[in-house]
Amino acid sequence: MKTEIVKITPEDGVDKYKYAVELLQDEQVVGIPTETVYGLGGNAFSPLAVSRIFEAKGRPTDNPLIVHISEFSEIYDLVTDVPEGARKLADAFWPGPLTIILPKSRKVPYCTTGNLETVAVRCPSHPVARNLIKACGFPVAAPSANLSGKPSPTKAEHVFEDLNGRINLIIDGGDCDEGVESTVITLASETPKLLRPGNVTLSQLKSVLGDILVDDAVLNPLKEGEKVSSPGMKYKHYSPDAEIILVRGGYGNFKNYVNGFKDNKVYAMVFDGEGEGLSVPFIQYGAEDYKMLSHSLFDSLRELDKKGADKCFVRYPDDCNDDNLAVLNRLLRAAGFKVIDV
Ligand code: TXA
Ligand code: MG
Repeated sequence: MKTEIVKITPEDGVDKYKYAVELLQDEQVVGIPTETVYGLGGNAFSPLAVSRIFEAKGRPTDNPLIVHISEFSEIYDLVTDVPEGARKLADAFWPGPLTIILPKSRKVPYCTTGNLETVAVRCPSHPVARNLIKACGFPVAAPSANLSGKPSPTKAEHVFEDLNGRINLIIDGGDCDEGVESTVITLASETPKLLRPGNVTLSQLKSVLGDILVDDAVLNPLKEGEKVSSPGMKYKHYSPDAEIILVRGGYGNFKNYVNGFKDNKVYAMVFDGEGEGLSVPFIQYGAEDYKMLSHSLFDSLRELDKKGADKCFVRYPDDCNDDNLAVLNRLLRAAGFKVIDV
């Protein structure tokens, strides 16, 4: 299968979407831009399309998909009830990088939800994604468009690297603004619970809903035999081929530690302005600011593989607060929770 890439800008008219819409109506899958990361979209109501998503990504079929809609009113087809909390969250953060989990309607097939009774719903803000969903006339299920386990794609070329030959079409809508996947919150439990941090921060969620629990798996490895709130937590994630090791401490100590290694396949990932005096090659992945880091994190992890790194020591933000959980969570998972204090 030849994988085509078509550029679409927000100014383009509906004729530009024709081929993508045809493929999606034909139960095929398409790489699509969103403001968070690129998604691998298919008709959320079609078991065949959904099976093609799992196959193209190599994703375990018990790991449910997020269903994307183009406006709030489309949620009524997907869930049994829209509680006040969901309405408030949607008012505050949709369209945007927030996914809300609610009990699913009968219309949503179990293959889309990994056999769960709940469904994850998101209304993305990327105009190309919304135009496409609108033109399809059905909700679009889309996990991140990477091969299962790899860092999520934040550019069309990342999707091509992972899925070339596995899908017909990638829509190139430019680089993703956010760079990390949406915040995932469940309203299907007694108290709302944050399952995956993203750029709608915990403090922003609390300002709308009040009390919110944070799932243990956001910053901690799963314990043996522990039951997961979200199937995605079970799987290795965001990992380049290079081994990632997080190093916590100031830059001086980081430098001393890393300079003990003299292998040219050992890399360092540091904040902007750092790198001087290192004996190993390095990549700067942004200023020590959670928005900046989230924007370039996955691209930097992919860069390590292109450079042929075997191992990379990564500067870990010192501060852990309600606003930078997204970056900490992705770094910890990319590293398989390996953290060294220096
Ligand atoms: O920003 C995003 O959310 C991107 C773009 C494409 O929208 N999508 C994305 O999808 O990150 P994915 O499949 O890579 O991550 C979805 C996460 C998984 O960890 C999955 O286990 C969890 O959400 N999830 C989906 N449905 C769920 C449900 N019903 N209950 C619990 N967790 C769920
Ligand atoms: Mg993913």
